[in-house]
Amino acid sequence: MTNPEESSWTGDVESKLLPIYQHRHKLIEAVKENQFLVVTGETGSGKTTQLPQYLYKAGLCRDGKIGLTQPRRVAAITVAQRVSQEMGVSLGHQVGYQVRFDDCTTKDTLVKYMTDGCMLREILTDRSLRQYSVVILDEVHERSLNTDILLGLLKKTPSRGCHGRTLPLKVVVMSATLETDKLSVFLGDCPVFAIPGRTYPVKELFCNLIGPKEKEGSAYVKAVVKMALDVHTNEAAGDILVFLTGQSEIEKACDMLFEKAESIDYRYDVNDRTVEGLLILPLYGSMPTDQQKQIFQPAPAGVRKCVVATNIAATSLTINGVRYIVDSGFVKQLNHNSRVGLDILDVVPISKSEAQQRAGRAGRTSPGKCFRIYNKEFWEKCMPEYTVPEIQRTSLTSVILTLKCLGVHDVIRFPYLDHPEERFILDALKKLYQFDAIDRKGNVTTLGRLMVEFPLPPGLTRALLKSAALGCEEVMLPVAAMLSVENIFIRPGCHFSNRTVITVITTILITVHTFLYFVHKGLPEKQKEAEIMHRELAARAGGSNDFLMLLCIFEKCRASENPSAWSKDHWIHWRALKSAFSVETQLKEILFRLKQRKDFPQETFKGSKSELLRQCLCQGYFTNVARRSFGKAFCTMDGHGSTVHIHPSSSLFGQEAQLDWIIFHDVLVTSRVYVRTVCPIRYDWVEGLLPKLHEIDVYDLSNVAREEVTDEEMARWEKKRVAQKQMETNEDASKKLEKR
Ligand code: CDP
Ligand code: MG
Repeated sequence: MTNPEESSWTGDVESKLLPIYQHRHKLIEAVKENQFLVVTGETGSGKTTQLPQYLYKAGLCRDGKIGLTQPRRVAAITVAQRVSQEMGVSLGHQVGYQVRFDDCTTKDTLVKYMTDGCMLREILTDRSLRQYSVVILDEVHERSLNTDILLGLLKKTPSRGCHGRTLPLKVVVMSATLETDKLSVFLGDCPVFAIPGRTYPVKELFCNLIGPKEKEGSAYVKAVVKMALDVHTNEAAGDILVFLTGQSEIEKACDMLFEKAESIDYRYDVNDRTVEGLLILPLYGSMPTDQQKQIFQPAPAGVRKCVVATNIAATSLTINGVRYIVDSGFVKQLNHNSRVGLDILDVVPISKSEAQQRAGRAGRTSPGKCFRIYNKEFWEKCMPEYTVPEIQRTSLTSVILTLKCLGVHDVIRFPYLDHPEERFILDALKKLYQFDAIDRKGNVTTLGRLMVEFPLPPGLTRALLKSAALGCEEVMLPVAAMLSVENIFIRPGCHFSNRTVITVITTILITVHTFLYFVHKGLPEKQKEAEIMHRELAARAGGSNDFLMLLCIFEKCRASENPSAWSKDHWIHWRALKSAFSVETQLKEILFRLKQRKDFPQETFKGSKSELLRQCLCQGYFTNVARRSFGKAFCTMDGHGSTVHIHPSSSLFGQEAQLDWIIFHDVLVTSRVYVRTVCPIRYDWVEGLLPKLHEIDVYDLSNVAREEVTDEEMARWEKKRVAQKQMETNEDASKKLEKR
């Protein structure tokens, strides 16, 4: 049963060896015959790279594009690169990708890899996705918030003749074996196509380097380094994949590995005499893509590759040749922290199912071994059975606004694969109400419709829109852009970036394009130099406002003759700043488009640039206001009343005594709760906004979320609210009297 169009199919030799290749005809048929299809198969079987190519060759692009979503931007980019290579076309033409702030597609693009967030934005502009013939939701087992929402939205996919579609949209949902029955039931008992794949046994070992006591703290970095070196010196040839948590831990581990590996004497220390060197490669989300590509290239003969990665290597990216896994047992995860009422990136133990997934990476092409640095007690006491889906642990503000803008009024009864806790939905509605994105009846406001256009957090968007209403967006656009890219400050000893660590061994000399290794000697001097430079930059911006400092850096660098040299001289990551320039342009374009609307607000303002910036920021960050309580401590005003401190990285650190009210961009929880990117404000700028934080009753919102609200009900709530306010005013007055 060969498709005529497929006779031209060549594909490369390597892809013909993938498990999926044998099943391509049946797979194409299954997609053609069903509107919904679940596809499952071991990681590395070829789902992501091959299925879109098969469908393309089988002519499924005749009526529209094939879109494939990924939860991680790195995966979307590298996979698109790979597929364009396999198809022998240049990236951005037939095959392209789109991630936030980076669109590498043209009107010719027929196979489009994208993040799930980008697909969600596309649905906003075209509910029935008319441009697509097939949408493939990939990595569904990861249960990212956006993928979960897409699942619910696509479940009600428009059929023939509906919403201007000529043909029904085909939806393929791909998952690495987990929960396929649940997915099939969710999608109306659709068929499941399982790609049989051979896996080899993986010996799982508990290495007892850490236990439940080390649950908090960073002992795991040292432990994985020790483990990886043990594997390198004791085990037979084969690559190592180390699972760590985030960029700074990975870079720290790579440094330590590099240092220790240099002192290995290959004549005596290594069991397998064919192993003559170690190639150490970091892999994390914000790495430049050309460096990420190196991960997939085989190491030179005799050299063992050791990739130190985040969870991205668990399922999104498959590295060939891995025989050994070193599992730290931890992952960096976004969680809603009820103590401070914000989403925070925490380092937490992985789930048992995640640990099994990690181990499985060692058995793709031959039997392997997985070295778990933790002990059995840690496994039993600290690791949950399954990973909680993102939708059940993070803030839902942006997606709820998106749903509302798509006309989904009843956000509580939306078809969620796993229902988020009702309080999370109510929290999101409350935030949206506080930001004036929805009204008391739960309907989207004009401001809400403007806010949803920006791929930014709601607070930042509101601040940006305020500045635009005042006609001075040129001060907020750079700030919003700088807050949307990775950390721009180079802090030697904390963050090494732009770098590949290579150990060059006695006999082999490896030539690499990027050999930007930081020399360890003189690190304290470099640290000092960077610190002085950053302090100087802060002083140039007035020395008391981190947001203004970001704006000044942006402007100074852009105005300089040689921006990359300027960045280097000032210990700023040029790559991050360059992306901030591009993000600013894109935000400006969105704003320009929105300003054409008749309902775009217009206001006037008189005052200095610094004051203007701070007042606009207050419009978005009044939910993050704190007032100094005692010593260096501040107390938040959002109803949680948490005690917070200014982070040492802030230019306001050390000036606490002179401060009263502040706003902050984010929070870091270690032994203390720290706030970062801080600026002082005047109380009267937020005075009118703060009551909004306490104005609405969650009970009101739960009704708003369920059904359309009648006017009588609204009147009843209003009465209740006025009475409540009166009571509060009375209480306040009596307190004041008491004080006197
Ligand atoms: O999606 P699934 O996990 O089933 O497999 P895949 O991502 O399509 O990977 C198929 C093969 O392509 C693996 O052997 C990967 O190592 C390889 N690949 C690659 O070499 N470079 C990439 N950028 C992506 C995949
Ligand atoms: Mg995949």
